[in-house]
Amino acid sequence: MLVPYNQILRQARQHQYAVGAFNIYNLEGALAVIQAAEELGSPVIIQLLPAALALGGAPLIQLCLAAGKNAPVPVAVHLDHCPSQKEILVALAAGISSVMADGSRLDYAGNLAFTKEIVQAADRYTAGVEGELGRLSGSEDGLTVEAANAKMTRPEQAADFAEQTGISALAVCVGNVHGTYATEPRLDFDRLRAIGARVAIPLVLHGTSGLPDEMIVQAIAHGVCKFNVNTEVRTAYTRTLSRLFRDGKTPELVDVMQGGLEAMKHPIKEKIRLFGSTNKSFYQ
Ligand code: 13P
Repeated sequence: MLVPYNQILRQARQHQYAVGAFNIYNLEGALAVIQAAEELGSPVIIQLLPAALALGGAPLIQLCLAAGKNAPVPVAVHLDHCPSQKEILVALAAGISSVMADGSRLDYAGNLAFTKEIVQAADRYTAGVEGELGRLSGSEDGLTVEAANAKMTRPEQAADFAEQTGISALAVCVGNVHGTYATEPRLDFDRLRAIGARVAIPLVLHGTSGLPDEMIVQAIAHGVCKFNVNTEVRTAYTRTLSRLFRDGKTPELVDVMQGGLEAMKHPIKEKIRLFGSTNKSFYQ
């Protein structure tokens, strides 16, 4: 069933678990997320990056919505990391129930103004908005932010930002990195705790791939209700595809699709178990 992002996160916060938000690119991705969630009785978020939408457009959103609608578990469909108001409006009009207004490349005042504008636009669709404060380093779908340009979220600014913008959830930068961690991951849990103490809305952690399990569990204890996962799932998919095509093999296309789907389900299920959202699909 389709359930709004805001409701999924509210439930998670209330019952102290987190929900996985998995980036997908096509039908196999959407089905892998939903089947994994269904097998574990978990709510889940399917999310699309602008690069995937540039290719799939409104039909890709419709596909995710249709798959979510038919699922026996709560599913939200979310637009991830979007810096463009125009693209956000297209996604909202196509029926997406939440967006990430990515103003992290702007200065504080610019990010505030941009995020407020998106919250106003999303209100007309009763859609949720995730804001980001600080800037994550790493690389995703060709967008690279060097470590030197990365910025940590400042706890005192986080409270002001959440209040002034009216966002539904806040993505924080506490040492998390998109893509592969070049060195041992180190999250600033004191900072995360200070943000959680000042901000009443759910917190979101991007860059989950490669984080040790114990860090994920600790982040949930500090108020993280949504984890974004892309690289681990995408890598499982592409590695399986290259294996299927190895040594000049020409497999049946449905076998390739099925193989890719099954490969993605494995890391998705591992993460869902770790986030503690197993058997949390019934809402009062
Ligand atoms: P990873 O690719 O590091 O899992 O990060 C995904 C993400 O944060 C998407 O917004």
